[in-house]
Amino acid sequence: MQDPMNTKPDLTGVAALLPGALRPRGLVVLTGAGMSAESGIATFRDAQSGLWARFDPMQLASEEGFREDPQRVWDWYAERREGVRRAEPNAGHVALADFDRRHPGVLTVVTQNVDDLHQRAGVAETIRLHGDILRDKWLEPCPRGLGCDPATAVPGRPPRCADCGHLVRPGVVWFGEALPPQAFALAEEAVRRCRLLLVVGTSGAVWPAAGLAALARRAGAMVVIINPADSEIDADANHVLRGTAATLLPALLGAI
Ligand SMILES: NC(=O)c1ccc[n+]([C@@H]2O[C@H](COP(=O)([O-])OP(=O)(O)OC[C@H]3O[C@@H](n4cnc5c(N)ncnc54)[C@H](O)[C@@H]3O)[C@@H](O)[C@H]2O)c1
Repeated sequence: MQDPMNTKPDLTGVAALLPGALRPRGLVVLTGAGMSAESGIATFRDAQSGLWARFDPMQLASEEGFREDPQRVWDWYAERREGVRRAEPNAGHVALADFDRRHPGVLTVVTQNVDDLHQRAGVAETIRLHGDILRDKWLEPCPRGLGCDPATAVPGRPPRCADCGHLVRPGVVWFGEALPPQAFALAEEAVRRCRLLLVVGTSGAVWPAAGLAALARRAGAMVVIINPADSEIDADANHVLRGTAATLLPALLGAI
């Protein structure tokens, strides 16, 4: 099974690994933007095309970019939030949620996605590494230690605190920021103890999430990548299945 060069969609070989993962927390699925591509949510690279092609990611997804032009970043996220609200879970999200209902306690989803499609599909446990695009948070802590809800901010692009003037920002992890420590610790623990890690729709370019595949492999799990294109972590996998989330996840998980 140690065959990182196996890039043909060998579904039968990978499906044969599933019974061994049917134990408490035996299966982890690490998802990236490609997981939601067939729900109509652009991957990070796609999101750089069209209207926003003139900005680089550091301008749109970093604290420096936000401080430089808060309205530009707020408006970009407002458009992405609308896209997430309009989107529906695709057949891949549904296959994971159906598997979870049939085999409670087996599946942990670890996602880099900031959309809520795993939750809406009905997966019981999703560890969110990069935050939640539908939530707001304060750019900086309140100088008076008031801990106000960002929902109380004065509406604007972006909204701001009526008292301190502090800005509200999207509740996502930007470039250069640390992941929520508890979420990442839970993700590391989940991949260390699983028997099978499916890595779905990630380029493997964003760290530290990309390191979870190698961590799982070192801890003894089988690692399978599902992606229509090459990723930067293909060499960490035992198998690479070339195809999309909405096609391969139902085919793989539907039979068990
Ligand atoms: N839906 C979302 O929440 C969303 C969308 C865009 C970006 N992001 C953020 O951008 C960062 C980028 O990292 P990333 O690796 O997640 O995304 P990425 O954009 O770097 O890579 C997307 C990957 O998905 C693959 N892909 C495209 N269509 C697919 C499909 N139908 N099925 C399976 N795979 C498919 C691509 O080949 C690529 O490897 C992450 O931090 C993530 O939080 C999130």
